[in-house]
Amino acid sequence: MKKKLFIKTYGCQMNVYDSDRMVDVLAPLGYEPTNTPEGADMVILNTCHIREKASEKVYSELGRLRVMQNDKAAEGGRMVLAVAGCVAQAEGAEIMMRAPHVDMVFGPQTYHQLPEMVTRAVRGAGGVLNTDFPTESKFDLLPEEGTRHHGPAAFLSVQEGCDKFCTFCVVPYTRGSEYSRPVAQVLAEARRMVAGGTVEITLLGQNVNAFHGEGPDGKAWGLGRLIRALAEIDGLQRIRYTTSHPRDMDDDLIDAHGSVPQLMPFLHLPVQSGSDRILAAMNRKHTSDDYRRLIDRLRARQPDLALSSDFITGFPGETDQDFADTLRLISDVGYAQAYSFKYSARPGTPAASMGDRQVEESVKDERLQAVQQLLNAQQVAFNQGLIGHTIGVLFDRVGKLEGQLLGRSPFMQSVHAVVPSHLMGRIVDVHINGAHANSLSGDAVGLPPVLPVTPAEAVA
Ligand code: SAH
Ligand code: SF4
Ligand code: F3S
Repeated sequence: MKKKLFIKTYGCQMNVYDSDRMVDVLAPLGYEPTNTPEGADMVILNTCHIREKASEKVYSELGRLRVMQNDKAAEGGRMVLAVAGCVAQAEGAEIMMRAPHVDMVFGPQTYHQLPEMVTRAVRGAGGVLNTDFPTESKFDLLPEEGTRHHGPAAFLSVQEGCDKFCTFCVVPYTRGSEYSRPVAQVLAEARRMVAGGTVEITLLGQNVNAFHGEGPDGKAWGLGRLIRALAEIDGLQRIRYTTSHPRDMDDDLIDAHGSVPQLMPFLHLPVQSGSDRILAAMNRKHTSDDYRRLIDRLRARQPDLALSSDFITGFPGETDQDFADTLRLISDVGYAQAYSFKYSARPGTPAASMGDRQVEESVKDERLQAVQQLLNAQQVAFNQGLIGHTIGVLFDRVGKLEGQLLGRSPFMQSVHAVVPSHLMGRIVDVHINGAHANSLSGDAVGLPPVLPVTPAEAVA
């Protein structure tokens, strides 16, 4: 009999990719995904440690799951409960202690060993803790063929880990050091996705533009070269990549933005702050001018490029002047969208022990609101600027309203339109006639008119 597997995914796209791969690893053991934890035979929380709020969620969720686990046991069943991802990596032993009903705790680099962990956990000899950084790469050991359909727009992890050690960030500790997958492996996975109907691939990595995977020629290939090779795959119509570090934007990658038509004109390039003093304290290894010049070079190659970024407000020692520099940078660059966060002190990171320089919560809040106000205004202006234009939209979801499909513009905006359902998975020209804070709406162009179905035809 098939067993039911429920995975709840927190955090970044890399966790989304990992959760999908866990489904692949567990399929041969008879586990099938389900969309509710109730009654499931296995529940995995794939967690995120990036900010305090994200981590806290795990313990409250574990409390709720305990009740379901007991219900299942009362019926004579068993719910195997697991914590995966970055909280597992950072706080594995603590989870085992605080939540002894958890059967397995494993980090982002060991889930290819799930079959063996499940066997050990089910035998019931206490919880399994697996937070090593193994010498082998999980990518070499994961099953090749996914059992699931990837969908029209899919993620493909090509790089993992980070050696940058920004002083606020846990990622180098939770994901480990930088690793790039071999080019041939990436191309093979991309070809399988495209053969299964995927038309857009987003290459993922904590520092994806630091990619330096071994090419078929035995040399290290940069991300630009990888993108050019992917662009040769018939049927792959759109390529994106995320997340990038400003220091790793090399000439070839910048050039790809102007010369590879499949590379979408949207780039998430986090800068975090506009103050050189704060950038130095963050160990970002670039100045705000370096970033500005980089944007100029990218826009020179691709004038349509829409930009996104991440910002942190209230990093230790941030003054009003530093913060004003951030607002100025945002105004100068102009973003299509961006994320902003209050600084959250993370245990074990250097910034967390910049004790006396921590910024007051109320100041962090005020600054966050100011940043968000400016970014929202830019986003609305960017969206409105598309009214009257016709853009390609890849429809990949069903909309809320009857007959509506939701898709993505080249610039990552959600676009909704009332179109025939067979356009799901296709890129369609849409004339934009509505712009909202977080989405666009429009009408498909160049389609045959939808004929009303007569009752006789409907029956036939
Ligand atoms: N590798 C990516 C970032 C991954 S984390 C990069 O270098 O850009 C995603 C975002 O979370 C970061 O860009 C940063 O803005 C935010 N972040 C990371 N640590 C944080 C912390 N301690 N407090 C607040 N925001 C943080
Ligand atoms: Fe974190 Fe910095 Fe690495 Fe990004 S580059 S993952 S922010 S340490
Ligand atoms: Fe979170 Fe880990 Fe991603 S900390 S943001 S899930 S790399």
